[in-house]
Amino acid sequence: MGEKTRMTRTVYVNGDYVPENEAKVSVFDRGFLMADGVYEVTSVLDGKLLDFAGHCKRLARSLAELDITNPHTDAEWLALHRELVARNALQDGMIYLQVTRGNPGDRDFVFPPADTPCTVVLFTQDKPGLADNPAAKTGIRVISIPDIRWGRRDIKTVQLLYPSMGKMMAKKAGVDDAWFTEDGLVTEGTSNNAYIVVGNKIITRHLGTEILHGITRSAVLRFAREAQMEVEERSFSIDEAKVADEAFITSASAFVMPVVEIDGASLGDGKPGHIARRLREIYLEESRKSAV
Ligand code: PDD
Repeated sequence: MGEKTRMTRTVYVNGDYVPENEAKVSVFDRGFLMADGVYEVTSVLDGKLLDFAGHCKRLARSLAELDITNPHTDAEWLALHRELVARNALQDGMIYLQVTRGNPGDRDFVFPPADTPCTVVLFTQDKPGLADNPAAKTGIRVISIPDIRWGRRDIKTVQLLYPSMGKMMAKKAGVDDAWFTEDGLVTEGTSNNAYIVVGNKIITRHLGTEILHGITRSAVLRFAREAQMEVEERSFSIDEAKVADEAFITSASAFVMPVVEIDGASLGDGKPGHIARRLREIYLEESRKSAV
């Protein structure tokens, strides 16, 4: 760990910027007791936020789907993110943001009154060299596991127990990550969207309630189409994936990450494919340009 990671971070809690070891949230917080909250992860490169407008828009949607009043305007969210980047002198890394239904002062399945203030927490995660992750050069290996999450995966809630268990299953199997499957078809990765490439065609599951609508997914598909690459948004099976020419995942923290092995089957020549590599380059280049 570098010198910087050991520094005490300044985090944001409900209006205050405080040292991380002084930040407090109530034991009655609905996020803590009921996983009643949503989150966003926005990456930062060279001190600037990537795809910020997209993350703000999805945050607003997640909150609206759960009837939690959005506590801030987009401009206020941007100011909070920027202030935290500045106070922590963050160059490369992520900003984690969480909003919960707040603290009703007791445990109750019934939602508290709508005017109960929500809990807002933001913190930085320092990842020097985030864009130069060595895994992008070798590619990652995944296994498939059944998707037993709830049915509203389009809402970015903090219910991450099963994705976290999935990551552990992958580790136990000696690989990097897991892809969820449902009714024989891939939904997405534990914390990323999943893609295969067959011939020159990029295939990724269509949007719906079964997957998170990745902000990186939306940008990457736009860049792919602009570069005249062929894109098909449809479900695919693990069997189809195992014989695909390439595969990759996308997320705010992994950007575009090649996948070189699925359930023990090597893809192509076992090295990152050229479409995944090209999309990673384009994504990093374009999103740096529009970073704020
Ligand atoms: N995860 N699917 C799931 C289940 C995710 O958790 C994520 C993001 C994505 C990709 O979305 P985006 O491109 O907007 O990051 C897809 C974040 C990075 C996390 O939990 O850390």
